Amino acid sequence: MDAWKNQLFFGDNLDILRSGCIPVGSVDLIYLDPPFNSNATYNILFAEKGGEKSAAQITAFDDTWHWGPEAMAAYDDVIRGDRPKLADLLQALMAFLGRNDMMAYLTMMAVRLVELHRVLKPTGSLYLHCDPTASHYLKMVLDAIFDFKNFRNEIIWAYKGGGSSKKDFPRRHDVIFRYSNSNHYNFYPDTIRIPYQAEGINRTDDSMWGRHKGTSKIYKPHPLGKVPEDWWPISILNANDPERLGYPTQKPEALLERIINASSKKGDIVLDPFCGCGTTVTVAERLKRRWIGIDITHLAITLIKKRLHDTFGPEELEDFEVIGEPADAKSAAALAEENRHQFEWWALGMVDAAPAQDKKKGADRGVDGVLYFQEKDDGPYHKIIVQVKSGKVNAATVRELEGTRKQEQAKIAALLTLQPPTRPMREAAAAAEFYKPEMFPELRFPRLQILTITELFAGRQLEYPRWVPSKTFKKAVRRYKGPTPQEQEKSYPKLPNSE
Ligand SMILES: C[S@@+](CC[C@H](N)C(=O)[O-])C[C@H]1O[C@@H](n2cnc3c(N)ncnc32)[C@H](O)[C@@H]1O
Repeated sequence: MDAWKNQLFFGDNLDILRSGCIPVGSVDLIYLDPPFNSNATYNILFAEKGGEKSAAQITAFDDTWHWGPEAMAAYDDVIRGDRPKLADLLQALMAFLGRNDMMAYLTMMAVRLVELHRVLKPTGSLYLHCDPTASHYLKMVLDAIFDFKNFRNEIIWAYKGGGSSKKDFPRRHDVIFRYSNSNHYNFYPDTIRIPYQAEGINRTDDSMWGRHKGTSKIYKPHPLGKVPEDWWPISILNANDPERLGYPTQKPEALLERIINASSKKGDIVLDPFCGCGTTVTVAERLKRRWIGIDITHLAITLIKKRLHDTFGPEELEDFEVIGEPADAKSAAALAEENRHQFEWWALGMVDAAPAQDKKKGADRGVDGVLYFQEKDDGPYHKIIVQVKSGKVNAATVRELEGTRKQEQAKIAALLTLQPPTRPMREAAAAAEFYKPEMFPELRFPRLQILTITELFAGRQLEYPRWVPSKTFKKAVRRYKGPTPQEQEKSYPKLPNSE
């Protein structure tokens, strides 16, 4: 327990779970909110900078899992695996659905749920968040893996929202399946109780003693309130919610707070294998759980690191390790070789820059990332453009970047490169001269900066005025980690035989 460090993994959760780095039967609670195959391509919006419309949209992830070689391999794994019931079910679903995106989604979920089941403690619980389009199929998959006897709840997360259909009832709920790993599972109802809501009646009043239907057993309302029903009216994060970070599928902390409180206690291990912008790990950190998060995009990993630091600050944040990120120039080169976009996202994170455009849609103007700074708190935002290069670079690359800098009216341009710059490149960068801040004109910042990945690992940083904190990414609201003053004051007497 002492040697434990919270863990944030970059990578495909299937590979990470299969690698064995999360021991069998070690996790107390799993929450997963996988991308659903709604055919939508989610865009991410970064914080708007002083009046300028946020142009920085990039594809965070494509949430469609198509039928293809990967889904076929996963299907084969299940059919040949040691879960005959699951194999029967997938074959039946295949006969019914055929080889389409829904089948791909269910197959990819099935192989991951098998691994998640393996790492769950016998007393542990799993909450699977999905929407009604696939929930009925997923429930069968869960029954086959966890056993229908261990189905505990179908939780309806109900919310309000704009937009309505003329021909249907507006769809305003998600489904969260709760399964335990055995009959001996942990559940902590007292941590999630809510007020009784019988209108006009104080149900904690002694006069509310009652009798159980058909028995002579007497009950008294619980002084902490009631355990919530299996439908949870919790608001979604609206556009102006201070909690909102701009990640398209970000879930409210209140939702995760209830789940984590209900099915884990302090010190327990909480795992989110699709952790997005890190709602689960942030709430787990606040509630003093140990946590493991996994995401397949460097963008999510960068956002989570930032969210945790902004939310808790260096004094309150427990040490955590990021696994799967390049640790040196060699592994950065391997990442670039494997996936150029991931390399770009990762490299931009090294200088705190946000991705600049939709890589799938946008024409590449040679700007991969942007960064904003101010010289004073209420002053205008100044732009820094960042270009990331994993391949060959030469003096022309630098001169073109300087041209783009002028076009974009950016104060500074940075070239992040795996290859070391040649002398002509350094000369071309020097020709761009210096940016001198209005407030302190005696300071000078090179207008064109070349930073190699090796230098970034050695701690070299972009040079620009930093006396006003950067607002490139939306900042998470700072949270106090201990109990709130109200919580500290709350002390309820315990009543015997109460429910
Ligand atoms: C619906 S979002 C989760 C949002 C999250 N609950 C939150 O509040 O921010 C799904 C996430 O799963 C990630 N993802 C998709 N496929 C993955 C995989 N195979 N392994 C790990 N993460 C994956 C995506 O990058 C995305 O961030």
